[in-house]
Amino acid sequence: MTLADRTLARFAAIVGAAPDLAVRAPGRVNLIGEHTDYNDGFVLPAAIGLQSIVAVRRRPDSIVRVIAADFGDAVSEFDLAKPIARDADQPWCNYIRGVASVLQAEGVDLGGLDMLVAGDIPQGSGLSSSASLSVASGMALGGLFAPGRFDATQIALIAQRAECDFVGMRCGNMDQLASAHGADGHALLIDCRNLDVRPVALPAETAILIVHSGISRGLVDGHYNERRAQCEAVARQLGAPALRDVTGEQLETAQPDLDLVAYRRARHVVTENARTLAAADAMTSGDLVALGELMAASHASMRDDFEITLPAIDALVAELQTAIGQSGGARMTGGGFGGAVVALVEADAVEAVVAHIEARYRTPKGTKPLVMVERAHDGASFL
Ligand code: GLA
Repeated sequence: MTLADRTLARFAAIVGAAPDLAVRAPGRVNLIGEHTDYNDGFVLPAAIGLQSIVAVRRRPDSIVRVIAADFGDAVSEFDLAKPIARDADQPWCNYIRGVASVLQAEGVDLGGLDMLVAGDIPQGSGLSSSASLSVASGMALGGLFAPGRFDATQIALIAQRAECDFVGMRCGNMDQLASAHGADGHALLIDCRNLDVRPVALPAETAILIVHSGISRGLVDGHYNERRAQCEAVARQLGAPALRDVTGEQLETAQPDLDLVAYRRARHVVTENARTLAAADAMTSGDLVALGELMAASHASMRDDFEITLPAIDALVAELQTAIGQSGGARMTGGGFGGAVVALVEADAVEAVVAHIEARYRTPKGTKPLVMVERAHDGASFL
């Protein structure tokens, strides 16, 4: 039984009727372009097969009752007739509450609902379980109460606002745009300033390998918001609207006036933007060697300049790089401080690379890592 079938069956069992609407929204893996989105820069993610599913059915009152199938059918309830508050006991629901609150601010007249959510994206893995839940919720609520009003980009931005303003994680827009716009067999080159999303075909016979380090991203929001504030401060100091607008030469000229940490944070973003554009070109020409070099440079920059990796993640990436060799590459993916590592691997090398990693890497619990052989999937859709 697929996740969608299980979710619909569970909905019928708990609510006693079929949903009016059900939506699936995928997680994403970022191939390159890390911490560039909130600097108005470029990213190159792909939607993956893991996803969140949201099923909704109208109720005659103003109560929204949300049930989380993955948390033992835990329930979080709120009343649309009152200001929507955060739920400290059921934090998973804050993404949904945030989306409802942003939709209300947009003037959407929401009504009461029974809602069931389920998903198979490991949490804290850097594969955007939260963004996929927010996008799926936005599409479900928008689809029911404002049909046809929001396009995929608008839904993504609503989901991002929910996370920034309601949940308090000042994320960029990559995860939500990737979940909303994913394209089968393609990565997405996203210009996070003008929101242009360009599908870039992944080279034929190439697999996306995702290895979960087993280190969950604890306390990440604090580190994340701190990095974002550092980037914004350097941009201000350089008189630029965002680090997107700063060239390598400008940064080198300004270096004597910058604090060393600020300089290194900015250097990561400026060089990562350039690497992301180069990676999209390398992908278009099917150049796995160049892609591997860019991924390696991206990881080194996250490790040395942006300081968001961990020794165990560096070791995992190094093992992958050894196993992959020249054709393809590996790097940490996502916000950092744990989570998953992504690799691009020639299809006929996958088995050997997986065997190597399963033999050489152990999670902090001493277990074999979770390894996922993925490909790029379509974005969010109604079921
Ligand atoms: C998290 C955020 C994204 C992005 C990445 C880092 O996933 O939600 O907006 O900033 O980290 O690239």
